[in-house]
Amino acid sequence: MVIFDRATNCFLLNGKRFSYAMFVNRAGFLQHLYYGKKIGAEDADYLVRGHGKKAEPDPNDPNMEMATDFMPSELGSFGRGDFRSATVVVRRGDGAAMSRFRYRSHNVVKGARPLTGMPCVRRADETLTITLKDDFSETEIDLNYSVSDGSDVLVRSAAVRNAGSGTAEILKAFSFCTQLPDTCGTYSALRLAGAWASERRPVVTPIGEGTLRVESARGYSSHFMNPFLAILRENCTEERGECYGFNLIYSGSFALTAEVSANKSVRVQGGINDYLFGWQLKGGEAFETPQAALCYSAEGLGGMSRAYHDFYRDYVIDPARAYARRPIVANNWEATFFDFDNEKLYAIIDEAARLGVDTFVLDDGWFGARDHDRAGLGDWTVNETKLKGGLKAVIDRCQKNGLKFGLWFEPEMVNEDSDLYRAHPDWAIGKAGVEPVRGRNQLVLDFTRKEVVDYIFKAVSKVLKENDISYVKWDKNRDITENYSAALPADRQGEFIHRYTLGFYDLAKRLTEAFPNVFFEGCAGGGGRFDGGALYYFPQIWTSDDTDGLERTKIQWGTSLCYPLSSMSCHVSDCPNQQTQRTTPFETRGAIASLGATGYELDLSKLTKEEKELVKEQIGSYKKIDGLVLKGDLYRLSDPFCSEYFCEMIVSKDKSRAYVVGERFRGDPCDHDRVLKLSGLDETKKYYIRELNLTAGGAALMGAGIMLPRLCDCGSWTWNMEEIK
Ligand code: DGJ
Repeated sequence: MVIFDRATNCFLLNGKRFSYAMFVNRAGFLQHLYYGKKIGAEDADYLVRGHGKKAEPDPNDPNMEMATDFMPSELGSFGRGDFRSATVVVRRGDGAAMSRFRYRSHNVVKGARPLTGMPCVRRADETLTITLKDDFSETEIDLNYSVSDGSDVLVRSAAVRNAGSGTAEILKAFSFCTQLPDTCGTYSALRLAGAWASERRPVVTPIGEGTLRVESARGYSSHFMNPFLAILRENCTEERGECYGFNLIYSGSFALTAEVSANKSVRVQGGINDYLFGWQLKGGEAFETPQAALCYSAEGLGGMSRAYHDFYRDYVIDPARAYARRPIVANNWEATFFDFDNEKLYAIIDEAARLGVDTFVLDDGWFGARDHDRAGLGDWTVNETKLKGGLKAVIDRCQKNGLKFGLWFEPEMVNEDSDLYRAHPDWAIGKAGVEPVRGRNQLVLDFTRKEVVDYIFKAVSKVLKENDISYVKWDKNRDITENYSAALPADRQGEFIHRYTLGFYDLAKRLTEAFPNVFFEGCAGGGGRFDGGALYYFPQIWTSDDTDGLERTKIQWGTSLCYPLSSMSCHVSDCPNQQTQRTTPFETRGAIASLGATGYELDLSKLTKEEKELVKEQIGSYKKIDGLVLKGDLYRLSDPFCSEYFCEMIVSKDKSRAYVVGERFRGDPCDHDRVLKLSGLDETKKYYIRELNLTAGGAALMGAGIMLPRLCDCGSWTWNMEEIK
């Protein structure tokens, strides 16, 4: 709910359990007041008088603007006394970029404020827009704030408008800026850092003087840093204390910064990466930033994660898919790589059907001259030399077995050895006369160009129209380089990366709308584009190319800090594991893969009889708990980064059911008396734990906990719990 108090010019935004407040101060600046636990409307007055007035610059003081350096602000301006990083910088025709943005007007609308050409929340209760105007130019900025009574997430974005007639250039346009006060303690920052095959590892460091910056300049959100930053108060743990999440609903290059001011308050802001960014704004044009999802939690990191999970499921992911049962997939990539023919695929398909799999997904290698990664990308026609009878033969085989069929594409890329490249070499990103940068032997198509996106849309659509395909895996296997488009004029090259991202969104929108019955899974060389923007189109994303039963606990743990379990594709693969060479028990791989959208990434036909029985059991059990994966609340119990145990549990919203999955990495001789305390249960309910044949009250299970079983290295347990009346 948005409340405006005319007497104090204070805006109070209330979500489910948080409040966010700011006011227009005497000097006309939009000054930040408060972000935290929900407070009553009557306390707006206290916030303004008790907090706001102290930092408010005096409009009658000739040195007033120097005081803005200490003012908690909703927007940092450039060149006028606020020396912290600006939020928006616009250079006018005469080269001047200093600005003084002050309040002009505001309005509140019911619902969300959709963005053009970018993913955004599908709904909200109310959106407040505050318009600021620069005193020295015709630049205006709309700051948008969307809140919903049922959500702990505040959604923010900005729009920069050139209301004049000359051309201006945006040098920086972040989506939000906010301020955390000096609370006589210390803040630390948690980011999700990683690399290929080890994505989203939580790293916590203190915030000290200066600026902490997490970013990607790779043209996409990337394996290396997720567009997510949490700021933790000193008392914050997994289930206790205060923290704030800052997450961008965006898939391109981004930056999030936390900057300690001289008065020890912290300015947090973020959006499109401003590194070499530029965007021309002609008279009358506006530029919209992506949305940012801000979350306050008084229940530690766990509370923040649960709030984000609900937010993604209820506000961002396609509502037709968010809570719908996911297909259990068998994918042939790690089973065959490029080396397959009809017979090899048929063996997997036949076995998949016998074992209870729903959908067979044919991965890379089915098209063009794609017998290796040096050729064929871009040629989206079936390779009939490899697949006799084409896709139809494989689909028929699936259908005879009662399986659905899915297909891999990498729409944004091209090999130089392809018909597409031979016909349109200029469609690949690069500058004529400069050797292109190759990654995995491929080039990136210039998605800033509409004709390129149109062509790929037609080519992929043709395959989807002509075949009975219910699932698409959309991959992307390299970084974006050159940052140059032959189609953009010299003075607009700074727009390249964001325009590329808009091209990706355009294709994703057109394909998902044209084929509403096809389930689209995202992927980027593993989990390289695991972000809120991608989740808008792809309800689930391949979490990582590392499917090792131990490493996956870490990758899934980190990913769950912000993204729901149901958004993570998690498959059982073969051992020794392809990436780590580690051998883990089949049961463990199944248990860890059950904490997401599950499937199999191995040659099912080559499994032993016992393993096949296990697959059947795993699928049967998964079908009993997938409702919890889709809809439940996650409690992380044992951190794989700082203990020899991983454990997570999911509790149904009504607390009548729970599912616990754990793994012990390495045993030591003295770990026979370990107790695991459960979380999230109803203290007053009684639960039956099937696998242990034990009954206990919620209070006992959370207070006294459960004695852990003794297990081999990388041994695991799964417990199904149900309320008994
Ligand atoms: C990277 C993906 O993460 C893999 O699952 C697989 O699809 C390969 N690309 C195919 O090239």
